[in-house]
Amino acid sequence: MAIRRIYTFDDAVLREKSKKVSRIDPSVLKLIDDMVETMMDAPGVGLAANQVGVPLRVIVVRGDENQVYGLVNPELVKVAGSQVGYEGCLSYPGWVGEVERADSVVVKGRNRHGKGVRIKANGFTARAFQHELDHLDGVLFIDKLTDLKTLKRVEELEEEEPEEAETAAARA
Ligand code: NI
Repeated sequence: MAIRRIYTFDDAVLREKSKKVSRIDPSVLKLIDDMVETMMDAPGVGLAANQVGVPLRVIVVRGDENQVYGLVNPELVKVAGSQVGYEGCLSYPGWVGEVERADSVVVKGRNRHGKGVRIKANGFTARAFQHELDHLDGVLFIDKLTDLKTLKRVEELEEEEPEEAETAAARA
């Protein structure tokens, strides 16, 4: 396993629509392992493959109880409710903004063994999944702000709304 460089907002790969993985070969397994290690090291709660410069449809997400999901060709199959809150992005270090997301989601995809899986997630983990799925389509959280005025430095949010800052600090 290895920690990979996290690409930031000025890198074009973040705006690319990522391609489907046709075969889960050793390079894809290594990519998943490296993404998990990179996410943990950052630390973050999620990472999409194009954030480490690989435009393939692969994401990793860390759940509420620190369980780690690695998904190949993930798709959103169900959404319900809504939540409005601050989120951050490992590709936008230091910045957070308010984004409206579905409150619960069902995501399907393949795990590292190629087995089809469906994952139900709520609240913050549901937010992380939606954030990562957007990355695969070249969409960043700054494209979805409830208001441009909510884009601020983490320190600014910490002063204004310490509770919000705690979750927003968990970047994806
Ligand atoms: Ni992100």
